Amino acid sequence: MEPTRTVSIIGTGSYVPEKVLTNQDLAKIVDTSDEWIHSRTGMRERHIAAADQATSDLGTEAAKAALADAGIDAEEIDLLFVATLSPDMFFPSTACFVQDKIGAKNAFCYDLGAACSGFLYSLETAKNQIACGAAKTALVIGAEKMSTFIDWEDRSTCILFGDGAGAAVIQAGGEGRGIMQAAMGSDGSLANLLWTPGGGSRNPISHEMIDQRQHYLKMQGREVFKHAVVRMAEAVNQALEKNNLRADEIKCFIPHQANIRIIDAIVKRLGIAGRVYTNVEKYANTSSAALAIAMDEAAKDGTIQQGDLVALTVFGGGFTWGANVLEWSKS
Ligand code: COA
Repeated sequence: MEPTRTVSIIGTGSYVPEKVLTNQDLAKIVDTSDEWIHSRTGMRERHIAAADQATSDLGTEAAKAALADAGIDAEEIDLLFVATLSPDMFFPSTACFVQDKIGAKNAFCYDLGAACSGFLYSLETAKNQIACGAAKTALVIGAEKMSTFIDWEDRSTCILFGDGAGAAVIQAGGEGRGIMQAAMGSDGSLANLLWTPGGGSRNPISHEMIDQRQHYLKMQGREVFKHAVVRMAEAVNQALEKNNLRADEIKCFIPHQANIRIIDAIVKRLGIAGRVYTNVEKYANTSSAALAIAMDEAAKDGTIQQGDLVALTVFGGGFTWGANVLEWSKS
């Protein structure tokens, strides 16, 4: 294959499980209220997967929707990523489970771990593999069953997350500039502000570890909040600069859906009021699925249209962050 420069999104899809958990429902589980949650986060409800639904099942639904939207067969996919922090198992990868479920038998498959930033990291990685000729058509999925890994006794974290999946099919070519240059970053020195400390090789599964609830997500909310605002705003500016664009040329900004106050603070820093897509009220933070779901909804409801310039930005555990800009070439 010849190296190519333009790589575009040709289809998107998303899926959230049927069960809705409202703030009022949460108030029956932990000491909280709809007023507290909504005023601090902008969230009203989130979707929770059924006991027999694993992350790959959510990812599969989103993948099927994206393939249908792109109008291509699963056998045309030659690269398949799942970005997730809630895999079906440590191994094999959730991507391999999705491959089997959708029949993408010509794809090579792996998971990508960048916590809530995973979808944008995957999009960037897949774009580069296509641009250099290593793959032709990629299916990039962000999928999470966060409800398995959060501590339902910890009101400071359990209210924040939901389950879901989003996907995009990307291919070489397309009108316009496609997926442009990204600005990405990480800072591992801040890992302990947002992590799941137990269950891996550092702190293996044991009765003691489980009794201490170390297998659940832990977070220093205020610290994470501050870093998220600074890093996402910075990354957007860097991505705009790399692509010789100004903020006023962007039709729609789609940030990671973690908290409406984080989004509002970014909007203020960048001066982009009225051009930001949010759905955190309906789904809460679905981690690596959040950006993918928001992008799919923005495309389907007409917020973004062919020829529009769209900026994406993410932040997550690691810390990891990034932003990129794309010219929407799908009609
Ligand atoms: N309901 C009611 N009260 C709650 C609560 C809840 N669900 N969770 C925490 N509180 C209480 C705390 O115990 C604390 O009480 P105290 O003052 O008596 O100690 C008080 O509310 C303030 O807690 P604090 O954590 O300082 O609140 P905050 O204004 O920072 O909001 C978050 C908390 C988690 C909503 C906010 O920090 C946040 O969104 N951070 C970023 C999280 C995030 O997006 N993470 C993922 C990034 S990918």
